[in-house]
Amino acid sequence: MKEQILVLGGKGKTGRRVAEQLSKLGHHVRIGSRSETPVFDWDQPETWPIAMEGMDKIYITFQPDLAVPGAFEAIKSLLEAAKQQNIKKVVLLSGKGETEAERCEQLVIESGIPHTIVRASWFSQNFSESFFLDPIKGGFVALPHADVEVPYIDAEDIAAVVVEALLNSEHDGEIYELTGPRLLTFREVIHEIAEATNREIAFEAISLEAYIQALKQHDVPADYVWLIDYLFSHVLTNPNNQLITHDVEKVLGRKPIDFSDFVKSTVVTGVWDGVEQ
Ligand SMILES: NC(=O)c1ccc[n+]([C@@H]2O[C@H](COP(=O)([O-])OP(=O)(O)OC[C@H]3O[C@@H](n4cnc5c(N)ncnc54)[C@H](OP(=O)(O)O)[C@@H]3O)[C@@H](O)[C@H]2O)c1
Repeated sequence: MKEQILVLGGKGKTGRRVAEQLSKLGHHVRIGSRSETPVFDWDQPETWPIAMEGMDKIYITFQPDLAVPGAFEAIKSLLEAAKQQNIKKVVLLSGKGETEAERCEQLVIESGIPHTIVRASWFSQNFSESFFLDPIKGGFVALPHADVEVPYIDAEDIAAVVVEALLNSEHDGEIYELTGPRLLTFREVIHEIAEATNREIAFEAISLEAYIQALKQHDVPADYVWLIDYLFSHVLTNPNNQLITHDVEKVLGRKPIDFSDFVKSTVVTGVWDGVEQ
């Protein structure tokens, strides 16, 4: 049966891939974002029921992060609106080892709507589609916690698990914890990308204080600085986040994509080509 599925953040790192994979399977996808018609805007709750109208299921990604103040209230209201619209299933993207995000997960669990929670480790695509891209292009990356190991997960794998969870009721009530198959430090990530691009990309280990100071000096908005501080001080260093899980294989019946394969498929897009300084 072909389904009507609303993909929130459907132009973002995971949502774009979820939308592509669902469309290939013949399902009807509506992208939920500020630049679509009908509009979906997290800051304008009046847009939510219109975006949900006629939809069977919703993939929920919250921007910028489930940990930010206001996310809990937004998810609570969204779930109430979803019940009003008779939504039959929701899949929530959450962050692995994020206490704040777990409060939002609990809302989904208690909503009475059939659901699956997908808790992801840090994405490989943070280096190609998000905040770590610009320093890589500029050839100089300075980051704190340089030697903390992270099992980066590919957004293609997250999307494949989300699609499976959206389409099959056997995943109802499950919480999946997704990681990649290998632990890497920032230092190792930058080394792999430098080798693949054949560019010199300098890496400097700095303190979290110096990093936060640098973000402020570059006029990064205060709420974004707060989020980065939270992610580096609470999420990155949480020992549970340095454990490799096997849920990708459990759901998809295949191994997760290794970081080196992500690097191979990304380097050919030219996204890491250097920029003139
Ligand atoms: N990055 C990580 O390593 C990581 C790890 C674990 C969990 N997560 C979770 O991933 C979630 C984000 O998912 P993602 O990375 O797939 O999405 P994303 O890439 O951040 O989504 C970006 C899209 O969201 C839309 N958007 C931005 N602000 C919006 C707003 N106010 N209202 C409606 N749409 C808005 C934008 O489209 P428009 O401009 O058209 O609106 C944009 O294209 C977060 O909740 C975070 O907790 C991230």
